Amino acid sequence: MQIDEHYSDPRLVAVYDVENAGRHDTDFYVDLAAELEVDRVADLGCGTGVLACDLAVRGHRVTAIDPAAAMLAIARARPGADAVTWVEGTAESLADAGHDLVVMTGHVAQVFLDDDEWRTILGQIHRGLAPGGFLAFESRNPATEPWRSWNKVDSFATFLGGDGAPAFDSWVETVSVEPGRVHLVGHTEFHQPEQEFATTSTLRFRTRDELEADLDDCGFEMVVTYGTWRGGPLQPTSAEMIFVAAAR
Ligand SMILES: C[S@@+](CC[C@H](N)C(=O)[O-])C[C@H]1O[C@@H](n2cnc3c(N)ncnc32)[C@H](O)[C@@H]1O
Repeated sequence: MQIDEHYSDPRLVAVYDVENAGRHDTDFYVDLAAELEVDRVADLGCGTGVLACDLAVRGHRVTAIDPAAAMLAIARARPGADAVTWVEGTAESLADAGHDLVVMTGHVAQVFLDDDEWRTILGQIHRGLAPGGFLAFESRNPATEPWRSWNKVDSFATFLGGDGAPAFDSWVETVSVEPGRVHLVGHTEFHQPEQEFATTSTLRFRTRDELEADLDDCGFEMVVTYGTWRGGPLQPTSAEMIFVAAAR
């Protein structure tokens, strides 16, 4: 499996949490797990493990899965990591595990570009759930065309470093857009020692209707949808489309 350089190069992985600080999605999924009163939770595409550790601290039994060894190395060193079962792998490793909830956050659902692959993943998640278990994830709403602000002017940020973290600039640029897919380049320029990264990737933008049809085809029924991390309703103009579904 080809791992995106963003998740495999140690220098980029080391600044993932700096670049992605102040997130509301982890709080949302932690609250959701409490509300659903679930015990066994799997975090698929767990990355550096922020959500997995937060869930474990709240008393859930957590398995966190990611194919990127460098991301898992950061996760395993996080406070509270000992309470989590870390798995270097993919949705395949969920098989017959009897989880009560599978979560994907950080727009992991959009890394699955091929529709057959995406439906295979949904099938593997379904098999990894106990009867009536839940799947929760989000995807960016293509109707809001977020890629329009993925340019150097609108997305440029400087991280000043300190506390052992390096200083760097970062921005993202849309390269091209085709129906349902956006090709982009993520730029990271470290100040000291100077080093420039330009990592290319593609994101799949599925519509609400497509995602709901895929969930239905793969054995899920919709429980609720949200359009904000505060639990607001999903509307045509919502930036996020958040889905909670249950295994039939
Ligand atoms: C944007 S990061 C999100 C990480 C984390 N969930 C978060 O919210 O910060 C996307 C993650 O998906 C992982 N990933 C890529 N391909 C995957 C696959 N086939 N199955 C599971 N995870 C995958 C990457 O290694 C990366 O850690």
